[in-house]
Amino acid sequence: MIGLGIESSCDETSIGVVEDGRIIRSLKIYSQIDAHAVYKGVVPEIASRAHLEKINSILESALLEANIELTELSYVAVASNPGLMGSLMIGAMLARCIGLVHGTPIVPCDHLEAHIAAVRLNNPSKADDSSKVSKGKDKLDINGEELNFPYLGLLLSGGNSSLYIHHGWKKLEKIGDTLDDALGEAFDKAASILKLPYPGGPHVEAQANQYLQRVQGNQKDLKVNLLPRLMAGAKADDLSFSFSGLKTALLYLVRDNPNLDTDRIAFEFQESCFDHVIRNIKKACKLTGISTVVAGGGVLANSTLRKKLDNLHESDNLRIIYPQSKLLCTDNGAMIGCLGYHLYSEGYVEGLDFRVSPKRFINNTMSEIK
Ligand code: KG4
Repeated sequence: MIGLGIESSCDETSIGVVEDGRIIRSLKIYSQIDAHAVYKGVVPEIASRAHLEKINSILESALLEANIELTELSYVAVASNPGLMGSLMIGAMLARCIGLVHGTPIVPCDHLEAHIAAVRLNNPSKADDSSKVSKGKDKLDINGEELNFPYLGLLLSGGNSSLYIHHGWKKLEKIGDTLDDALGEAFDKAASILKLPYPGGPHVEAQANQYLQRVQGNQKDLKVNLLPRLMAGAKADDLSFSFSGLKTALLYLVRDNPNLDTDRIAFEFQESCFDHVIRNIKKACKLTGISTVVAGGGVLANSTLRKKLDNLHESDNLRIIYPQSKLLCTDNGAMIGCLGYHLYSEGYVEGLDFRVSPKRFINNTMSEIK
């Protein structure tokens, strides 16, 4: 079964053609980063206009690459929430047009659930950000094991830092969320304080890596002592995230010590953030008795975080799964096509009048418990 996935919730216009929820026949991503970089954040009006300008050509090239016609699609999946309203509406209008003209069933998808579904996709064989084009291999690849419900979902992106129990398709139960900034947002703000370019995550990581290379594993230099430990006093059943205090501490540290080593500060910032994430994962697994965690979102592109997640297998016997391809961590149409496949297979289809919303959970059967 071949379906289309449309993603336009924020600042990436992306369309993927996905076969059987697993094989990426094509994936096109147009990133708007250059348009927003000057403002150091996403400007909603600019984002929706850019989606409108690009989405038709992205569709054409995705279909061409996959060698498929619109009439051959079994379903068209589209990110319907959460996201920027103006941006979501562009993707939704395209899905409605395809549905109206060709009678293709429409499957609105929760963007957050799609990030968690992304691990079910095969790695693109040419996961190359510069070409923005990739094709799938015909091989199931979730560390060679089946992924059965329930498992925990961890979302770390520019707009979300949250933990869920994924009970089944459209059955997401939220068990932890950020009290303030999302982790990606915190990286972006930290980068701005450190005078690094936007988006900040990859630049903070690069500075931290320079520091690590310099100190070459010297334990004394690997201690975090300039910046605070996050939510260190939180109760065992509190799975909240909070990153804004760290950002403020960083701001004052840099203001009062202009000559401090930027590489070291970037390293400490990253360590403090990831220590908080790892602690919450361990707490969530202990509280729920679930030992498999599926992670997604742009911050999962960070290699230091990936290593720390991998280490949890050895240290705590936890199975942490995230997309091996960094391209699939970020917003992309293939993950929407993948979730669409599973929802469509369970008979979930909506009419042309389906809703889009900036909110989470509009279409889910389980509500938030916090
Ligand atoms: O999921 P995503 O692509 O999109 C939105 O949420 O819009 O996440 C983007 C976020 C940005 O805040 C970016 O700074 C962060 O992911 N990010 C990273 C890295 N690469 C991207 N954060 C830390 N380390 C990275 N290597």
